[in-house]
Amino acid sequence: MTFSGAAMIAGVMGYPVKHSLSPKLHNYWLAHYAIDGVYIPMEVHPDNLVKVVSTLPYMGIKGCNLTVPHKEQVIKILDGISEIARRMGAVNTLLCEDGKIFGTNTDAYGFIQNIKSHVPSFDFSKGPTVVLGAGGAARAVCAGLLDEGVPRIYLTNRTRKKAEHIRDSISKHIEVIDWEAREDILAEAHLLVNTTTLGMAGFPELDINLNRLPNTALVTDIVYKPLETKLLHTARLRGNPTVDGIGMLLHQAVPGFEMWFGARPEVTQTLRDYVLQGIK
Ligand code: ATR
Repeated sequence: MTFSGAAMIAGVMGYPVKHSLSPKLHNYWLAHYAIDGVYIPMEVHPDNLVKVVSTLPYMGIKGCNLTVPHKEQVIKILDGISEIARRMGAVNTLLCEDGKIFGTNTDAYGFIQNIKSHVPSFDFSKGPTVVLGAGGAARAVCAGLLDEGVPRIYLTNRTRKKAEHIRDSISKHIEVIDWEAREDILAEAHLLVNTTTLGMAGFPELDINLNRLPNTALVTDIVYKPLETKLLHTARLRGNPTVDGIGMLLHQAVPGFEMWFGARPEVTQTLRDYVLQGIK
C-alpha cells in the first residue's frame, strides 16, 4: 500500500478499535482502485470523543466510521444527521465537508444489501419477519426491514423493555413478543434474523428450536464469527435458505468509502475471502 502527501484520509473510531475489520476492508479497496488514500484505526476514549471529532475537519480528514461505544454519543456535536440516523438514534459514518461534520447510518443498508446480494429474488413484503434481540443492531435491522416493506416484525428480546423501546421509537408495525414465546411465532416467519450476540465465538449458543419454522423461510444471522453459526447450520440442514453475517459488514462500508474517496466500491467474492482470512 502506498500513498502520497496528498492522500485522502478516513478511518474508524472506537474504544477499543483493534478488533475492527474496517481498516483491512477499506485499504483493500483503496489498493484495488489505485486511490491515493489511507484508512486508519483511531482508538479514542469516550471522554475525548467530542474533542477529537470536532478537530477532524481542521485536519483535512474526510470522515470516519464510528463503532462501539461512540455511535450515540457523537450525535450531539454534529452539524447534521440523515433521516435514517435520526430514526435509529445512532451514527456509524461521518463526513467532513467545508468545516462541518455530517452523520449517517449505513447499518440498515448493509443488512438489506447483504440479503439482496445473496438472494436477489427475496421479497421482503411477502410475510412477517421474526427479529431476535433488541440492541443497536436490531434497531438497524428493523429500520431496514420496514423500509423494504416488511408488513410486520415480531421482535423478541430477553429484556422485553428494550424491544418495546424500539417499537415505540420506530414503528407500530413492530409487535413485541416475550422471549419465552420466541418459538411460537416461527410458524408465521418469512424471514428469521438473529441480532443477539448468542452463537458468537466466546458467547453462549442461541437456544431456539426451529421445528415450527416453514422450510421456505430465509434465515440470517448478523454474527459472522463463526461464519456459519449453529442457527445457520441447523437451518441449512433442514432445508432453509441461509445468509451469513459477514456481508452486512462489507456492504455497510460501501456508502462511506464512496463519500470519502469518490468511487463506489464493489463487494466481491475476492474481498469477502480476503476479509474472512483469520476469522473463520
Ligand atoms: P448490539 O448493539 O451489537 O446489538 P447489544 O446492544 O449488546 O449489541 O445487544 C446484544 C443483544 O443480545 C441484546 O438483545 C441482548 O439481550 P438483552 O437486551 O436482554 O441484554 C442479547 N443477549 C445477550 N446475551 C443474551 C442471553 N444470554 N440470552 C438472551 N439474549 C442475550
